[in-house]
Amino acid sequence: MAKVKTTFFCQSCGSQYAKWQGQCSACKAWNTIVEEVVQKEEKSNWKLPSSHNSKRISKPLKIKEIDASKEARMNTFDNEFNRVLGGGIVPGSLTLLGGEPGIGKSTLLLQISLKLPYKTLYVSGEESQKQIKMRAERISPDNDNCYILTETKTQNIFKQIEALEPEIVIIDSIQTLHSDYIESSSGSISQIKECTTELIKFAKETATPVLLIGHITKDGNIAGPKILEHMVDTVLQFEGDRNHVFRILRASKNRFGSTNELGIYEMQGSGLREVSNPSEILISKKDEDLSGNAIASTLEGIRPLMIEVQALVSTAVYGTPQRSATGFNAKRLNMLLAVLEKRAGFRLGAKDVFLNITGGITVDDPAIDLAVVAAILSSNEDVALQRDFCFAAEVGLSGEIRPVQRVEQRIMEAEKLGFSTIFVSKYNKISLKNTTIKIQLISKIEDLIGFVV
Ligand code: TYD
Ligand code: MG
Repeated sequence: MAKVKTTFFCQSCGSQYAKWQGQCSACKAWNTIVEEVVQKEEKSNWKLPSSHNSKRISKPLKIKEIDASKEARMNTFDNEFNRVLGGGIVPGSLTLLGGEPGIGKSTLLLQISLKLPYKTLYVSGEESQKQIKMRAERISPDNDNCYILTETKTQNIFKQIEALEPEIVIIDSIQTLHSDYIESSSGSISQIKECTTELIKFAKETATPVLLIGHITKDGNIAGPKILEHMVDTVLQFEGDRNHVFRILRASKNRFGSTNELGIYEMQGSGLREVSNPSEILISKKDEDLSGNAIASTLEGIRPLMIEVQALVSTAVYGTPQRSATGFNAKRLNMLLAVLEKRAGFRLGAKDVFLNITGGITVDDPAIDLAVVAAILSSNEDVALQRDFCFAAEVGLSGEIRPVQRVEQRIMEAEKLGFSTIFVSKYNKISLKNTTIKIQLISKIEDLIGFVV
């Protein structure tokens, strides 16, 4: 047995120190440095399983000799997942999926393993084989290609991989893995680093893609050092409000595609359903006209999304009026209220204002501003907006209506969904012809008032 060595790691950024100190010199966080046992003498010596022929032996090539034809992708048979990845899983890549507990990470990856036509190994360190089987039965019971392994020691996992030769490996979760070469406990920085390094080595040398599930910390980052996110090729975030049924999958890093794409799922009794036309479900279908509701045409990535904004303006009961926003930036709401006060003469100072984006999603596209303003005006006057109106423009500090990007795409989506009028900025250049939807151009916030109240 080699000599036991300890090192100090910052739990927030992963920096390494020889001795303890109160503040991390790298990230300036206090009390994050923790002693971990590492065993430096014996290095990880995982060897390539002999049966796997190395498909990738690297040698220098002239750039013009490199075959630039598209990298082969493995289809996951899940359109949303494929799109977020940029067309499917790249062989030999490492993908990390992060998200809050209970959001559906295990469900998503198990569901994908059950759909894959490849030999898949699902390694779980969190649940027993029985529990996974029960979950799989809710989703889809028949699959000949999916193998379940409950194991946390990487050396044992590689032994099983060698025997089984899977085409895709899924690990649930990286924080439960444990390598013999490091002595500290599972989930510690040095364990996470070592296990990820071993998995990367395996993935790159055998061209087998590995999907990892990662826990997140309470401030929403993936638990473990930031370096984990640097090591993997793709980082996906699975987010949503646990009380709502919709889940959003987005890439925060993608070496093989854009990070603009978005996948939407609906959590059902039988797993996650892909939502291919999100606009239809995000807009509630009501029979009556209600005041305080407005529809915004936003973009998530490059996909247009119609979103319903609800506002409630009421007389403040206490001295200081309350302002609260769900799914929308509260500072931006205050700014829009100040603009309304100054430019449109609305005295909102003595009113409580509540704002909600339905569906439990968060929007940071500035094009939602005009819909927010319209919803507030409508609630303030208690006059319902026409249900087939929608809005897509940013509001500036002086009350000017500013243009937004990809306005034509937004207009086309609104037309497709049967809206009669879309309000956009006068300064947007629109070259659309033969549209049935009315494009109402406005330049200042005052112009809107005549239309909505
Ligand atoms: P899970 O995948 O275990 O979450 P994570 O791995 O991110 O912690 O998700 C579990 C939740 O999803 C659980 O609260 C129950 C719910 N669920 C359904 O609603 N329908 C289903 O078919 C499944 C499998 C889970
Ligand atoms: Mg899980």
